[in-house]
Amino acid sequence: MQLEGAVITWLGHATFLVETPGKKTIVMDPWLTENPKCPDEYRTLDKADIILISHGHFDHMGSAADLAKRTGALVVSNFEIGSFLASQGVENTVGMNKGGTVTVGDIKITMVHADHSSGISAPDGSTVYGGEASGFVVTLENGLTLYHAGDTNVFADMSIIHELYAPDVAMLPIGGHFTMSPKEAAYAVKLLKPKMVIPMHYGTFDALTGTPEALKDLLAGQPVEIEALQPGGQCR
Ligand code: NI
Ligand code: MN
Repeated sequence: MQLEGAVITWLGHATFLVETPGKKTIVMDPWLTENPKCPDEYRTLDKADIILISHGHFDHMGSAADLAKRTGALVVSNFEIGSFLASQGVENTVGMNKGGTVTVGDIKITMVHADHSSGISAPDGSTVYGGEASGFVVTLENGLTLYHAGDTNVFADMSIIHELYAPDVAMLPIGGHFTMSPKEAAYAVKLLKPKMVIPMHYGTFDALTGTPEALKDLLAGQPVEIEALQPGGQCR
């Protein structure tokens, strides 16, 4: 499928850079400097308008405070993560919760459920309560609708995400161990009915053994494109 003016770049693991048709830059689950799969040229990103954080784990917000301070981006997360980042000196935060929608220009960002945990690893080594894990549905200026699932297992209410928002593109974790493996992700695709799936959260660590090939095999014959990007790879 064509993204009609949007460009999605996978930066490895759960981190995505989305350039919108209205020339805004959205960074999803920023893990840049310590992410072993992030291409070097993206580790010190200097442009972001919006940062989305699905939950408190280091591999989803490890670079959030630095990136927000460097770019002045608006950080959208759950209430607890927003408060934590504000306590770390991040000025431009919006704390929200599931079912809520934040509008930035003509972009709509809705927080949805995820089946996962969300403890924040604080700089002093302690774990801070991070609220509940979430995913995001993002509707761009051209109507293209993206769903970033965050870290999650499959859950039946993914069918509600389809019915309410009908995402065109779904970024889904497939690595297993901490999230869905291809077996559960294939079931998620049946509930979400996206036109395109971009697999994520695999291959970063030895425990994340799920592969896009396994997902493709499970969805053979289904009307969905599986877009297996390399880190730094794009679809547009
Ligand atoms: Ni996690
Ligand atoms: Mn994770």
